[in-house]
Order: sequence, then structure tokens, then C-alpha cells
Amino acid sequence: MILARNITLAYDNKRNIIENGNFHIKPKEFIFISGSSGSGKSTLLKSIYGELAVRAGQLLVNKTDLSKKNYNNILELRKKLGIIFQDYKLIQEYTIEENIMLPLKILKYDSETSQNQAKNLLKHVKLSHRAGAYPAELSGGEQQRVAVARALSHNPNIILADEPTGNLDDYSAGIIWKLLRDANEMLGITVVVVTHKIPENFGIKYRRFNIDDGVMYEAS
Ligand SMILES: Nc1ncnc2c1ncn2[C@@H]1O[C@H](COP(=O)(O)OP(=O)(O)O)[C@@H](O)[C@H]1O
Ligand SMILES: [Mg+2]
Repeated sequence: MILARNITLAYDNKRNIIENGNFHIKPKEFIFISGSSGSGKSTLLKSIYGELAVRAGQLLVNKTDLSKKNYNNILELRKKLGIIFQDYKLIQEYTIEENIMLPLKILKYDSETSQNQAKNLLKHVKLSHRAGAYPAELSGGEQQRVAVARALSHNPNIILADEPTGNLDDYSAGIIWKLLRDANEMLGITVVVVTHKIPENFGIKYRRFNIDDGVMYEAS
């Protein structure tokens, strides 16, 4: 669950990027967020994963109130969040399998559980044969599949994805959309995706928000 009441988002003392944002994303929803470049889409996701403090209003993510002054328990918040970026953000010095296990290491899962989880996810994203490879040895589409596996590794109930298909060709993008759809449909994970291009015939129910000139609204 993500609930925003009149949130204002801004960097430093500069202008507000989003003003009076109101939305309620319920468990198991699939949400697309669109808007022109620079409209504040990434800024909105940053506030949800605790990278940017809200300037005003209330923001609840799961049971965490991110609008509380001095909120600093990022680890607690991210226990239930998986995050995917346009540029994958894999750790180059780690193998594919180690990248997938990273959230589990941070959350202090035991190594047997972590390894089993990584193996299952590698199978799920069809990269078992590349477990020991390094990110630079994979194509962009493959790297993004690793990023999806990593985002799923610690059993989050929310996945946030910032233009996850922005760097990919249509074929690879299709695979990523299917993985996100399956995460939503089969695992019941709430998925929030920023994209400027919503796939046609997406196949499952979703809601769509737009950000335009600092204002966020639900689009039909
Ligand atoms: N770290 C930052 N410090 C100051 N301004 C920023 C920062 N990151 C983004 N901005 C500004 O915030 C606005 C929204 O950026 P962003 O959320 O990245 O847009 P989008 O993801 O929709 O393209 C832009 O004007 C951008 O220049
Ligand atoms: Mg962005």
C-alpha cells in the first residue's frame, strides 16, 4: 500500500517538483506513471523508496510513515521494496548470482537460503547458465532480467521500476514486461512502473497516472 496525501516534493530550497500529490495505490495493483521528461517521475519514486524526504504532506509506504521528521530507517522500509532502474545498476565486480543475492546479504539471510533463492530466480529469468558471469558479459536485456531477479530476491510486496525498458529493444522489453506482469499476477506484488510508453494489449488490469507541470492526476 502506498498512500500520499497532499505531498510536496522538492530538492534543496528550489521550486517544488510535485505539489499536493494525492494517490492511493492498493495492494496488488499495477500502476503506470507517465509524464514528460523532467516532470518528476523519478523524484516521485525516490520519495517512495526513501531517497528523498517529503517536504510536506503525508506519505505512507506499507506501514511506514515517510513523512515523519527524521525518518531514517531505510533498511526497514526497503525490506519490502524491490527497485529496478533504467540502467540496471548491477555491481560490476559481482557475478550475476552475487548481484541477485545482494539484498539478501544486506538483510542478513543465511547463505543457504540466499543461494537457493538466487538459483530459483536465475531459473525464473532464464539465466541459470550465466550465474557465474559478470554484468559486462551480458546484453542489456539480460542485465535487466538480473535486475528483476534481484528486485524479487527478498520477497518484496512492492516493486518500483523507473523506465525499466528505456534502454531495451522491443523483444527484450517484452520479456521484462512479462516478468513484471507475472510478479503482479502470480505473486500478488504491487508494481509501480514509470514509463513513457505503456505496452499495448498489456493483458492485465492497471491504473495510470500522469505528472504534468507539478500536478499528478489519474489518467483514463
Ligand atoms: N538531485 C537533484 N537535485 C536538484 N534537482 C533535481 C535533482 N534530480 C532531479 N532534479 C530536477 O527535478 C525535476 C524532475 O526530475 P526527475 O524526477 O528526474 O524527472 P523525470 O524522471 O520525470 O524525467 C527536473 O527539473 C530535474 O532537473
Ligand atoms: Mg526519470
